[in-house]
Amino acid sequence: MKMNYNIMFFMLSSTLVLLCSTSAFAKTVGSPALTSTPAPAPAPDFVNLTELLTVAGPFETFLKYLESTKVIETFQNQANNTEEGITIFVPKDDAFSSLKNPTLSNLTADQLKSLCLFHALPQYYTLADFTNLSQRSPVTTLAGGQYTLNFTDVFGTVRVGTGWTNTKVSSSVHSTDPVAVYQVDKVLLPVAIFGTDIPPTPAPTPSPDIAPVADAPLAKGGSGSSATSPQPSSSFRIISLGILNHLALTIAGGLVLFL
Ligand SMILES: *[C@@H]1O[C@H](CO)[C@@H](O)[C@H](O)[C@H]1NC(C)=O
Ligand SMILES: *[C@@H]1O[C@H](CO)[C@@H](O)[C@H](O)[C@H]1NC(C)=O
Ligand SMILES: *[C@@H]1O[C@H](CO)[C@@H](O)[C@H](O)[C@H]1NC(C)=O
Ligand SMILES: *[C@@H]1O[C@H](CO)[C@@H](O)[C@H](O)[C@H]1NC(C)=O
Ligand SMILES: *[C@@H]1O[C@H](CO)[C@@H](O)[C@H](O)[C@H]1NC(C)=O
Repeated sequence: MKMNYNIMFFMLSSTLVLLCSTSAFAKTVGSPALTSTPAPAPAPDFVNLTELLTVAGPFETFLKYLESTKVIETFQNQANNTEEGITIFVPKDDAFSSLKNPTLSNLTADQLKSLCLFHALPQYYTLADFTNLSQRSPVTTLAGGQYTLNFTDVFGTVRVGTGWTNTKVSSSVHSTDPVAVYQVDKVLLPVAIFGTDIPPTPAPTPSPDIAPVADAPLAKGGSGSSATSPQPSSSFRIISLGILNHLALTIAGGLVLFL
């Protein structure tokens, strides 16, 4: 009899505890779920070019030149300027390592800076815009003056020419207004630096023009930022499950005692 009394007391108190904790639980579930939805969208327009070129690529060599010449700051500044934006042509690391004929090793600091600036246009262009740009060639780059690029659009394959370099705009690394970053197969060499005494190219290179299909699919899109947003809610769910488990155990314990 006394035993039963104890059990009854235990049941009552644990039910009370249950009631209290479930109502507290309900309250705490409600608030973070509501506040966590609008939180992860603070800075929408800012694209960190250093980060972008570090993650994509490999564009390490180009990024190193951009950093040593401080041109990365000019680019970032232009990218932050959402009115016009920027279009950057980035050669992959192997484009630099395969550069033999004129090398970059003899360039002065100023020339190297101009060469970097030569790889960008002071406006955001989608790939579709290059159809029009090809009619407006030569197009002035961020290096200004006679540092111009010629574009041609042949059946959807955009080519960029400098006199020294004639190469394909092979894929889109990032293209969301105001920042466009396109990969090119070669380092763009300006006549303004290397002169007009261009050695004849060893016959028309056969392969790159014939198979443009493989390179066609573009746009990795804006990556990153969104990946972190589901974190708070899912970890909260784990905590909630923990509480539920705890409750279930308490109930089970009570039942066992009761029976
Ligand atoms: C851009 O990213 C780089 C590398 O992750 C970082 O060092 C730098 O502080 C970032 N700049 C800004 C303005 O966020
Ligand atoms: C670009 O904008 C970001 C974010 O507003 C800022 O942190 C960075 O300093 C800016 N960089 C330049 C070069 O204007
Ligand atoms: C670099 O400069 C040196 C000395 O002026 C010259 O001998 C060499 O040919 C130059 N190399 C290139 C690739 O222009
Ligand atoms: C190309 O130029 C024409 C006229 O200059 C314009 O109407 C059209 O919208 C432009 N197309 C693109 C993709 O910019
Ligand atoms: C670029 O285009 C202009 C105008 O069509 C032409 O005069 C010039 O020779 C071209 N330059 C190169 C390097 O193709």
